[in-house]
Amino acid sequence: MPRPFIAGNWKMHKTISEALEFAGALARRFPPPQERDIIIAASYTALHPLGRALQGSAIHLSAQNVHWEERGAFTGEVSARMLLETGCRYVIVGHSERRRLFGEKNGEINLKVRAALKAGLKPILCVGETLEERGDDKTFSVVRKQLKEGLNNLTPGDIRHAIVAYEPVWAIGTGRTAAPAQAQEIHRFIRQLIADLFGEDLAEGTPIIYGGSVNPANIRDLMAEPDINGVLAGGASLDVDSFSEIIKF
Ligand code: PGA
Repeated sequence: MPRPFIAGNWKMHKTISEALEFAGALARRFPPPQERDIIIAASYTALHPLGRALQGSAIHLSAQNVHWEERGAFTGEVSARMLLETGCRYVIVGHSERRRLFGEKNGEINLKVRAALKAGLKPILCVGETLEERGDDKTFSVVRKQLKEGLNNLTPGDIRHAIVAYEPVWAIGTGRTAAPAQAQEIHRFIRQLIADLFGEDLAEGTPIIYGGSVNPANIRDLMAEPDINGVLAGGASLDVDSFSEIIKF
């Protein structure tokens, strides 16, 4: 069983000074060693100062996106090696906001997953259906396709360093959480898919985390499900008290 993996996705919130203030407070509340993986996904600009400030702490850093090329003429993009140097260990890939608002497709998401792994970053691959897809009974087929294409060409060695986030799009930022049993059903399905691709043992060790309106009131019930290994919290991770409650659950 993987350790509980509690990540906050700040999206486009918090300047460098706001991020440092939050991180300092969080690091004081959760000194090392911790039995849970605690991760903050901050904006690109805050990553390097946070990386310095959090050195030796129990709080780890994630980026929210990455480009798949190592370098080159890609104005506005950031490579995995650049992220690694900030002190960042993780990167969110294929978040539904990136898919929906920036047109990201499974093919390029897979390139990003592979680029992250190659550089030594752990990708947090996001999958999840829209409300319309759920209504049309397409949840399983959508999640299967996103997962299979997102993990395409990965080796068993690679999957050891990957995290999968199930984030039903209809539950993100809406206050509508998936019922724990509903989320568990999809997490189980995802684990089975990973087992089909990489074997049972590796599937058991892969953190599969849930995202979508996670808050201090629903965290316990979600984490009580056997295949929910952690969460990716958005809105509730912006406040140090509520994020701390989620970490402690
Ligand atoms: P939310 O966002 O917790 O605000 O719903 C979750 C996410 O987008 O990762």
